[in-house]
Amino acid sequence: MTAGIDAPTRARISARTLRTDRWWLPPLITNVGLAVFVIYATVRSFMGQWYWVADYHYLTPFYSPCVSTSCVPGSSHFGTPLGELPGWIPLGFLALPFLLGFRLTCYYYRKAYYRSVWMSPPACAVAEPHGRYSGETKLPLIIQNAHRYFFYIAALVSVINTYDAIVAFHSPEGGFGFGLGNVILTGNVIMLWAYTLSCHSCRHIAGGRLKHFSNHPVRYWLWTQVSKLNVRHMQLAWTTLGTLMLTDLYVMLVSSGAISDLRFI
Ligand code: FES
Repeated sequence: MTAGIDAPTRARISARTLRTDRWWLPPLITNVGLAVFVIYATVRSFMGQWYWVADYHYLTPFYSPCVSTSCVPGSSHFGTPLGELPGWIPLGFLALPFLLGFRLTCYYYRKAYYRSVWMSPPACAVAEPHGRYSGETKLPLIIQNAHRYFFYIAALVSVINTYDAIVAFHSPEGGFGFGLGNVILTGNVIMLWAYTLSCHSCRHIAGGRLKHFSNHPVRYWLWTQVSKLNVRHMQLAWTTLGTLMLTDLYVMLVSSGAISDLRFI
């Protein structure tokens, strides 16, 4: 099917759009925001250092779970079933592809990058540059339908991140204690859970395929709670990109000795 400016149903206007406002600003902001995160996460994932603070058990989420003998001592909360990894494999390789898949197939991110990266279309009343449209019916976009399975794994990774945050309240030297790093790690985990549970697939798992909510009060209650979060899914998608970078940056700065952790107890 021919789409975009060549679509047979489109009015014969040679201009791509008649809009004169700054319709390009939202896609541009989205592109910049996504690019900042992708570049930061890629650099940090391949850096291979400053991901663990031994004094306070802070582990950055980009390297969790760390399961190879290449990980610095203490950072492997779940053991080291894998041997040395070559330097070109990120130490967080076990979770990173699934988290990437989870975000890439997320309904909100799809909307964001279809519009801003593929410009399909970039804004209301602005024709897309592509001549054909096959939707999500063919490879590679048909993979978007696997989102629910990425959700299951992302939920598991959130459990692991939660464990990391709890472990960080116990330092090897003085036992229980907490500092600014704990606040940041815990805040990040809370936001990750909010984002994960606000997922459209989670909402469907909670209340989908039911004919009568009245027969399923527990699922109805779960569905209403997830629905409350779901309306904030876009905000949570962006907030978690920010909290992930902030958490990693803080761990990196403390681990490298650039700053010291602000301790409260
Ligand atoms: S829809 Fe965004 S994470 Fe599932």
